[in-house]
Amino acid sequence: MKPSHDPTAAKEPLSPREIQRALATNRLGKNIHWFESLPSTNVWAQDLAQQGAPEGDIIVAEGQTQGKGRVGRSWISPPYLNLYFSIILRPTLPPSSTPQITLMSAVALAETVQHFLQFSPEIKWPNDILVGGKKLAGILTESHCEPHGVAHVVVGIGVNLNFPKELMPEEIRNMATSFQILKGRTMDRNAFTSRLIQDLDRCYGILEERGFPELADRWESFFALRGRRVKVEMPDGVVQGKAIGIDLDGALILEGASGKRERVLAGDVIPIEL
Ligand code: BTN
Repeated sequence: MKPSHDPTAAKEPLSPREIQRALATNRLGKNIHWFESLPSTNVWAQDLAQQGAPEGDIIVAEGQTQGKGRVGRSWISPPYLNLYFSIILRPTLPPSSTPQITLMSAVALAETVQHFLQFSPEIKWPNDILVGGKKLAGILTESHCEPHGVAHVVVGIGVNLNFPKELMPEEIRNMATSFQILKGRTMDRNAFTSRLIQDLDRCYGILEERGFPELADRWESFFALRGRRVKVEMPDGVVQGKAIGIDLDGALILEGASGKRERVLAGDVIPIEL
């Protein structure tokens, strides 16, 4: 059988012009900086932000040589197949509320994925987008604060669009998926990117103008592990309990056997099979 990925196929680059043609945004995507390859779009975006780049600038690369994932992991970023991009935000939120940016981005990303798949993906707290229990997309948010407050936040998003299974490295092959695998055909990367920027712009506007409570129900509607027993691996230990939901700071609420509830601010959530 012919492989679904033809390695001789022409590389079709993303087109900032085509992406922008479909946009009607308030804050995001007026400038899209395209690169064939970068170590990491997040690192580039941080540098641009430090140099004063305005809110809404987007850095997109066809491939990354040192793509960064959460908790020090790497993000596998082969060229011309997927989407790797970072957005510079300059939110008016206090530093303690920046986790809400990650949750807001997860809502926007889940809604974009839902639009193209025609069914709901799941969010695995705080920011993995899963379909059928496999990871389709991830978000890495990095904030830079100064004494007066948040200077900028970089939201980096990686989405497996046209990643064929046979090109996935062994270590992620059973845990990851892509639109191409799910739909059996090639995804239009420009159309996906436009829609995602549009959804991020809308959700960010809601967050800035009306606050996180306006988005919390939507986040909860995608929450994969509500009511499940989970363990959360944190840098300083492991906690277990029933996943109840999130609070308005984006913390995960766990209920212990005694009914006592605790808030978890960061970690990896793993369901416990009973
Ligand atoms: C995760 O799920 O661990 C987060 C993955 C985030 C990957 C994206 S790809 C674009 C941006 N640049 C990076 O180096 N990482 C993020």
